[in-house]
Amino acid sequence: MSCYLGIDIGTSGTKTLAIDVSGNVLAESVAEYPIHQPRPGWTEQDPEDWWKATVKTVRAVIRKANLKPDSVKAIGLSGQMHGSVFLDKKGQVIRNALLWNDQRTAAECEQITTAAGGRKNLIKMVANPALTGFQAPKILWLRNKEKRHFDKLAKVLLPKDDIRRRLTGDFVTEVSDASGTLLLDVVKRRWSKRLLGKLELDEQILPRVVESDEVTGTLTEEAAKKLGLTTKCKVVGGAGDCAAGAVGNGVVRKGILSTSIGTSGVMFVHSDEPQYDATGRLHTFCHAVNGKWHMMGVNLTSGGSLQWWVDSILQGLTGITSKNRYAAATAEAAAIAAGSDGLLFLPYLNGERTPHADPNARGSFVGMNPTHTRGHMTRSVMEGVTYALRDSLDIIQALDVPVRQIRASGGGSKNPMWRQMQADVFGKKITTLEVEQGPAFGVALLAAVGDGAYRSIESACKATIKIAEETPANRVATKQYNQLFPIYRELYGQLKDSMTRIAEYQSSQS
Ligand code: XUL
Repeated sequence: MSCYLGIDIGTSGTKTLAIDVSGNVLAESVAEYPIHQPRPGWTEQDPEDWWKATVKTVRAVIRKANLKPDSVKAIGLSGQMHGSVFLDKKGQVIRNALLWNDQRTAAECEQITTAAGGRKNLIKMVANPALTGFQAPKILWLRNKEKRHFDKLAKVLLPKDDIRRRLTGDFVTEVSDASGTLLLDVVKRRWSKRLLGKLELDEQILPRVVESDEVTGTLTEEAAKKLGLTTKCKVVGGAGDCAAGAVGNGVVRKGILSTSIGTSGVMFVHSDEPQYDATGRLHTFCHAVNGKWHMMGVNLTSGGSLQWWVDSILQGLTGITSKNRYAAATAEAAAIAAGSDGLLFLPYLNGERTPHADPNARGSFVGMNPTHTRGHMTRSVMEGVTYALRDSLDIIQALDVPVRQIRASGGGSKNPMWRQMQADVFGKKITTLEVEQGPAFGVALLAAVGDGAYRSIESACKATIKIAEETPANRVATKQYNQLFPIYRELYGQLKDSMTRIAEYQSSQS
């Protein structure tokens, strides 16, 4: 029997799974690691933690599914996007990696925009504006702020591509994740020599770029021994977690859009051509489908908002234990009517990307009155996160991108109340899949394609992904949300200046 592994280097942990050729999941394993926040708005992780979690979860999957080492034909890699693993010429990690939700690079984003000759020109070169989470501003930050580290820099890799280096010894990335560096000519699917020149960055520090279904190498002897596999096992390009998750949801053709609520929230739509939002609110990236693209809106703190609310605020209060906390909190929220009786939540705890691109945005509850309860507050957190996704949906629809089906995934699809809330806030039917596996499943399928088990990722998805359930919108709830959503939208503009001053105050205190 041939089987394939998908490894997803997530923000809270690494998930590895094994599938057979028909896409049946044989076993899965997760290992968690910490996230370091040395200052407000800074987020870092130790790449060594990712590697340890990779080894642990691969070994666990092999054990659980009782796989013969030579039955594992190929591995696909996925991971949190945009992060920077800085390596010296011996391949040693220079400092902790900066992550996708790190907000320290506002000055570098301006520097890049100016060097490119303005935002419009930058969007022409790399299809996107400079955003604090992206990788290029992180490289400039290292040059501007940690010169002693920059002087040692030989290569910079994205999180999953550092795992590839440890697996195969190769410095390679693929188009979907490379799009989120801000250094890829997204239309031509290769590094932008023009922008690299303007930023005075040497292309040699970047890895080689391939399509997501290409084989990039095979396991080194050392890696094969560590994982319990053979040196014949191939490693395939894979994809950034958004594109990988979309593949796992079968979002590989026109008209299908997916929402995903994990730590971040992502609204993702396939596109046959590179399509832009001229104002740069949505990202235009290469898809993991060979020769195709996608657009997406990203909210930085989606599931992360509920996690903050439940873990930091509710846990330990009456009726909320560490074991039942999510079920208990969402049950209280379910008892409250749609619209939380006018209590609104802005989910900008770590700044925001789509549509505001503002590292200084901050979260807030607005509209409290004495009748509001804990359940109202939980519900309004979930509604605020869903309104933030609707912001992206509205931009996508205004660009005339066809949306025939919305597939929900992540925590927001598993929780029936949140699924219904999405249908109601969007005013559209939501589809969920029979088995929803996310990014690790998506890249296991890419591994199967790279190994030749399928002709293309489209045919792999067609053969393995099945729709399970449809959740129609409730008209009464949609009416409530349609009244509140315009107010939610206004609030950011009205609070923006105060949020900036608050963020400045907060960083002055750290
Ligand atoms: C996408 C993004 C996040 C991370 C989180 O642009 O920043 O979704 O990839 O895993």
